[in-house]
Amino acid sequence: MRRKIVAGNWKMNTTPVEGVELAKNVVAGKGGVCSCVDFIVCPPFTHLSEVIKVVRGSGIAVGAQNCAAEEKGAYTGEVSAKMIASLGAEYVILGHSERREYYGETSATLNKKMVQAYANQLVPIYCVGEKLAEREAGKHFDVVKAQIEEVVFNLTDEQFSKLIIAYEPVWAIGTGKTATADQAQEMHAFIRQVLASKFGEKAAETPILYGGSCKPSNAKEIFAKEDVDGGLIGGAALVADDFLAIGKGFEK
Ligand code: 13P
Repeated sequence: MRRKIVAGNWKMNTTPVEGVELAKNVVAGKGGVCSCVDFIVCPPFTHLSEVIKVVRGSGIAVGAQNCAAEEKGAYTGEVSAKMIASLGAEYVILGHSERREYYGETSATLNKKMVQAYANQLVPIYCVGEKLAEREAGKHFDVVKAQIEEVVFNLTDEQFSKLIIAYEPVWAIGTGKTATADQAQEMHAFIRQVLASKFGEKAAETPILYGGSCKPSNAKEIFAKEDVDGGLIGGAALVADDFLAIGKGFEK
């Protein structure tokens, strides 16, 4: 049985005070959602410490949205995996399409970030996904396969057993355009097959989350698909009730 996960990527939204309020509201409403769902919230670095205090004991875990590729040193403005882990965060989103696109993150950078994450016991939520033009050119499977081969294939079996993957088609992020449940399933099954070609049966255990305009009204249909194990939620994670309602998408 794979874990069911709903993770919120708050991106560069909320002040620390607002973030604490949001986290409190998620904690307050969590009891109304099946305990079978693992919730993770990923606030900006500046809120990690306070949000971790708020969710303590609630079963909700906290992740960062990025970490530095280097261990420590003269890297002005960077935040290391060790710093993040020392606060009590358990996860880190790596390879989000916004980081790939706006901050030039390549597979080479991401391999280094993966090393740092694992060295500090942070579980990576590794994002993959194609751009619209790539899908229209029929290259979406090749793009996603390369994103996996160039980074995930460098993990040891033990590291891989902890990994979470998020499939986020770039054309669906923040656009209101969701992949259909069938499109999501098709890609998730493909991803699992690529993972299995390297890691064998362990790939059956890897949670693969869908991200891209996921909301309460479409989560149930998407989560019903066999290879979709949850969601990485952007905009809808900023409203506690919507975020929690997405978690209810797993209820029959
Ligand atoms: P939206 O849910 O706002 O489309 O964002 C998805 C995403 O990028 C999560 O990482």
